[in-house]
Amino acid sequence: MWHATGKKFPPGPSEGMRRWSLGPLNDTPLEYFTKLAREYGDVAGIRVLNFKTIFINHPDTIEEALVANARKYIKGRVLRANRHVFGEGLLTSEGEFWLRQRRLAQPAFHRGRIASYAATMVEYTERMLSGWQGGEERDAHQEMMRLTLQIVGKTLFDADVERDAKDVGKSLEQLLEMGANFRRTIFVPHWLPTPTNLRIKREVAQIEKILYRIIAERRAFGRDAGDLLSMLLAAQDEDGSRMTDRQLRDETITLFLAGHETTASTLSWTWWLLAQNPRVEAKLHAELDAVLGGRAPTLADLPNLPYAGHVITESLRLYPSAWGLARVAIEDHQIAGYPVTKGMGVAMAQWVVHRDPRWYDAPEEFRPDRWEGDLLKRLPKFAYFPFGGGPRQCIGNAFALIEASLILATVAQKFRLRLMANHRVEPLASITLRPRYGVRVTLERRRTSNVRDRAMGAQSAVAD
Ligand code: HEM
Repeated sequence: MWHATGKKFPPGPSEGMRRWSLGPLNDTPLEYFTKLAREYGDVAGIRVLNFKTIFINHPDTIEEALVANARKYIKGRVLRANRHVFGEGLLTSEGEFWLRQRRLAQPAFHRGRIASYAATMVEYTERMLSGWQGGEERDAHQEMMRLTLQIVGKTLFDADVERDAKDVGKSLEQLLEMGANFRRTIFVPHWLPTPTNLRIKREVAQIEKILYRIIAERRAFGRDAGDLLSMLLAAQDEDGSRMTDRQLRDETITLFLAGHETTASTLSWTWWLLAQNPRVEAKLHAELDAVLGGRAPTLADLPNLPYAGHVITESLRLYPSAWGLARVAIEDHQIAGYPVTKGMGVAMAQWVVHRDPRWYDAPEEFRPDRWEGDLLKRLPKFAYFPFGGGPRQCIGNAFALIEASLILATVAQKFRLRLMANHRVEPLASITLRPRYGVRVTLERRRTSNVRDRAMGAQSAVAD
């Protein structure tokens, strides 16, 4: 029993000054949580008005919350406040309903199935590159957003969303930007006709129009296209009922949102990190040139491109697009020896844990090489958790890693992305972690074949 520990609520910054924590928590959450961990260690108590949240910062405690005690929580307040956007989709639904949807969707994310998506990922990337010119200026983040949206649309719903990508992308982006204001999201009911709520309503309606059209087209098509939407359409309850358009809408909007901005941001941060670390970039280029020599990558190439994998792993460590997770307790229990009562929140931040010097040398530095040895095996399991963990772990984990690696390999073979001078790149901790002002770059075409000839020349020289 938790009473036995004698602990009450963990110490934290807001004791005796309850309103203090709301400002920085809302406006600069990355700094807020970093400071919290520095000042209070592995467990800290936050009180905001009547809400009590325990912030946990040790991998073992995070595992305790996400795995051992998973059933004692539902998703946190910010996500739940966004249910008018996500509805009862996988990310926000709970209990038996969630479990059923997860079982239904799971086969679409099996590795074998993802193999069939790989060619589409590369094909769409090459299509994007065919419009790129050396010397041009672009926003790498916008490019990645458009690309990953098209890939999710094509692979999961067999819909070429190219004609809609701009509209859907813009609406989704606006929603995520408005979602960044946690104070508003939590405390202003979504049905109040405030200017922001009205804008949210408009953007949701805009996306819905497109999603309902995709769903109607598929119902009319009537045959199994072998994709996720077909699986969801074919799924039947025991009583023979099928999913309504509304349920399908919830799942599609969730997957569009959860499945494109996260991977796009990961790649945007990767381009930014590579541009600032020429040695890392050169090592990546050398690997790509030696293994691919200018041809398009396939899924089968990925095991031979370990460094490209390390680059993505390291980028996700420093800039985890899911930068923090939150839960609300639905039954009394304890965490790290502290009582957690029904209604209390538990929060954790990948942003903080991934930069903790207890687990990582020079934690602020971008060093993909650190993943070359057995670091992942040596680390406590939840010292690196960009995809969360336990039953609510990201369903698109393998999809995202394959997609990010293939896009990285396809683009980096042909182009270097050089940062534009005087352009500020800084993180915005919205529902995901994205570059607030984008990542403005100048494109520089690479001459892969020469490098490949040199690499092969060097190889044969060694062999001789
Ligand atoms: C780098 C890319 C990605 C990152 C960092 C990421 C991260 C995460 C995290 C941390 C969670 C758990 C949230 C929680 O526990 O509250 C999650 C859930 C989820 N992700 Fe991802 N994700 C990524 C890509 C994707 C992709 C590509 C898809 C789909 C195509 C996807 C679909 C989902 C869904 C549906 C859930 C909810 C799963 C459930 O609760 O059953 N994600 N993601």
